[in-house]
Amino acid sequence: MSTADESLDILTGLYHLGYKKIITTPHIYNGVYNNSYDTILPGLERMKTVIKQSGIKLELEAAAEYYFDEYFLSYIENETLLTFGDRYVLFELPAMSKPQQVEDAVFEMTLKGYKPILAHPERYSYYLEPGFESLEKLKSMGVLFQLNVLSLAGFYSPKVQKFAHQLIKNNWIDWVGSDMHNHRYFEAFNNAIQNKYYEKLCSSGQLLNNTLTEL
Ligand SMILES: [Fe+2]
Repeated sequence: MSTADESLDILTGLYHLGYKKIITTPHIYNGVYNNSYDTILPGLERMKTVIKQSGIKLELEAAAEYYFDEYFLSYIENETLLTFGDRYVLFELPAMSKPQQVEDAVFEMTLKGYKPILAHPERYSYYLEPGFESLEKLKSMGVLFQLNVLSLAGFYSPKVQKFAHQLIKNNWIDWVGSDMHNHRYFEAFNNAIQNKYYEKLCSSGQLLNNTLTEL
C-alpha cells in the first residue's frame, strides 16, 4: 500500500467485516521489496497512531513474509527474523523452482525455536502439479500452511483454486491470510470470504488464527 490513508481505508474495511486484529506481513524480498526491521517497525508505529486517531478498535501487529533466498538463510542463521505470536515465521518460496535447501532451512528454524509457516502452499507449480503428497515432507517436519484466501475465489488461476480446495478437504491448512497490496485486493478478499470453502475452513476448528487474540 502506498499511503497511510489507503492503509487506513482498508483496515477500516476489515474492521467492519468483523476482524479485530490484523497482523501485517510486508514482503522482505531483497531487490524487489526492500523491507527490513527498519522500514516495518516504524511503519507499524505510524499506522498504530493513525488507527488510534481514527477511533476504530483494531489491534495491529507486524512481522514479515520472507522470500526464501540467501538473505533469509542468513537471518535464520543470525536469529534476526521478525516473528509474530509464539515465534511464528512466515516465509514463501520461489514460484517456479524449488530451492534445494528448503528442508535444511526448516530444520534450522525449528532448531532455533522458530515455528515456520509456509505462505500459500497452493501457489507453487512444483507442489501443485504432482499434487498435495509433494508437500508431505514439509508437513511431517512441522511446517504450518497458510492459505491465501484469494486463491479460493480463483484470483490467481483455476489450478491454484482447485489445489486450495484439495488442501482444505485434506485438512492441511493451519492459517489463513491474504495479499492486500491495494483496494483491488480488498475487493477480491471481500468476495473470497463468501466462498463456501472459506466457511468450511473457519468452522473446521483447525485454524490457528484465533489463538493470536488469546495470547
Ligand atoms: Fe507471497
